[in-house]
Amino acid sequence: YTLGIDIGTSGAKMVIIDKFGKIVAEAIRAYPIYHIHPGWSEQDPEDWWTAVKDGLQELFQTFDPSQLKGVGVSGQMHGLVALDENGNPLLPAILWNDQRSHEETDYLNNVVGKGTLIELTGNIASPGFTAPKILWLKKHRPDIFAKVKSICLPKDYINYKLVGELVTDVSDASGTLFFDVRNRKWSEPMLKILELHPDMLPKVYESYEAAGKVNEAAERETALPLGIPVVAGAGDNAAGAVGIQIAEEGTVMVSLGTSGVVFAPQSTYLPDEFARLHSFCDANGQWHVMGVTLSAGASLKWWVEEIQDGRYDLLLAEAEQIPNGSKGLYFLPYLSGERTPHNDPYARGTFLGLSHQHTRGDMTRAVLEGVSFSLYESIVIAQQLQIPVNSVRAIGGGAQSPLWLQMIADIFGLPVEHWVSSGGPALGVALLALRATEGLDAFKDAPVGMNHIFEPDEIRHKAYQKRFQQYTLLYRSLKDAFS
Ligand code: XUL
Repeated sequence: YTLGIDIGTSGAKMVIIDKFGKIVAEAIRAYPIYHIHPGWSEQDPEDWWTAVKDGLQELFQTFDPSQLKGVGVSGQMHGLVALDENGNPLLPAILWNDQRSHEETDYLNNVVGKGTLIELTGNIASPGFTAPKILWLKKHRPDIFAKVKSICLPKDYINYKLVGELVTDVSDASGTLFFDVRNRKWSEPMLKILELHPDMLPKVYESYEAAGKVNEAAERETALPLGIPVVAGAGDNAAGAVGIQIAEEGTVMVSLGTSGVVFAPQSTYLPDEFARLHSFCDANGQWHVMGVTLSAGASLKWWVEEIQDGRYDLLLAEAEQIPNGSKGLYFLPYLSGERTPHNDPYARGTFLGLSHQHTRGDMTRAVLEGVSFSLYESIVIAQQLQIPVNSVRAIGGGAQSPLWLQMIADIFGLPVEHWVSSGGPALGVALLALRATEGLDAFKDAPVGMNHIFEPDEIRHKAYQKRFQQYTLLYRSLKDAFS
C-alpha cells in the first residue's frame, strides 16, 4: 500500500491505494484561505500540516499504517513558503492566485524581458509564479526577507515535515520561473537575476524518485512508519495527470477545480515561443504545455454561493433549460485576473450583453460557457503549436456536472471522458510512490476509472465556434477598461 497526500487550495486530500492502484481509503480536511486585501490570497502552512495529521489520524482508525510502503505529496503550485533558520514559516504562504506582485511581474517581463525569461525558463512571468512573489517580499517586507533562510513550494513544506529536508520535484519547480525546464534543474542565470542564493532552494528530483524517508519527528506526529520512502511528488496538475493515466501526446487533461487547467503532454521540450501557454516538466520524465483559467470552479462558486443562495442543483438545472449561447449573454471569468493566454492581472470578471429577457438560468449558463471558452482558448493554442489533441479527460469538482462536460465536448468539438473516483492529484502521487517501491510496471494495470464519454455534437460545435470567435474579441475590446 502507498499513501498520496494533496495540498489543495480548499483542503488536503489523502488516499491510500493497494499495489494495483485501487483506492482503499481516503480522507479530506478543509482549511481556510485568507484574502486580507483585494487580490491577496494566503494560507497558513501550519494549517496544511494540521490537516494532514488530522486526515491521517482518521485513516489510521481503520487502516494499519505499518502496511504502508511509501508516500507521495502533491499540491497547489507556485505558492511562496518562506522559512526561517529553524524551518518555520516567516509569513503566510502567498498562493498561486494571489495577484499582489503585478509590478514585479511587469518588471520581469519588460525589464529582464520576455525573450530572456523564455530562453532561460520556457515561460514568462505571471503574478501567480513564485519569482515575482519573492521580488515583492524583498521590496515590501525587507525585514522579513532578511530572515529568510530557505524557500519552498506548498507541497514541499509537507515533504519537509515528513523527511526533515527541503526537497522538490521538476514539475512543481517548473512553476517558479527560476527553473530551467529544458534541462530539468534550477536556472543559475535566473537565480542571479533574482539575487537568490542556490542554498536557499530545495534539492530537485524527478517526481517518482525517492527524495527522503519518513523521519522520527514525522513518525511521532503522524504514525507513519519510520523510514519508508517519500517520493519527490508533483505539482497538482502533473500529479492529476498521472492519476488519470495521461502521459502520451494526444489525450489532454482538463481539470475543473478552483482553477481550470488544460494539460497537454509533450514527448519533447517545445515551448510556445510567445509563452501564451506554460511549458513545464511533467511527472514522468517528459514535458507538457498548460493553460490556466484562474477562476473556473471559483467563478461558479462565486456566482452560486456569493451572489445566489448556494443551491447548486437548482441553479444548474435552470441552466440546463437554457439554449446554448445563453441568449447572447457572455461571461468573462476573470474574477482574479487572467493567466493564459492573456496573462493580465488587471482583467476582471464581466457579464456582457444583458437584456430584459435574461434570467438567472441564462446567467448561470453564461458562467459555465465563459469558463469553457476560456479553457478552449488554451486548446486552440495547443493545436496551433501542432500538439495533438484528440480527446479530453476531465477531472475535478466541476467534472461532476454532466451539463458542463457536454458543453465542453460541444465547444471543443472533442470527446470528453469523465473519470470517476479518480482520487485526483492524491492518487497520482500515491501511484508515483508505488512506482518508487514496486517499479515502473507496478501500475500499468491500474484500474481505468472511465465513467462516461460525452461526444461532441457537430451542429452545436459549429454554433459554439461562432460564439467563441465573438468571445475572443471581448477581452481585446475591454482590456483598456480593466487596467
Ligand atoms: C497552475 C495553477 C493552479 C494551481 C491550483 O499553474 O496555478 O492550477 O496549481 O492548484
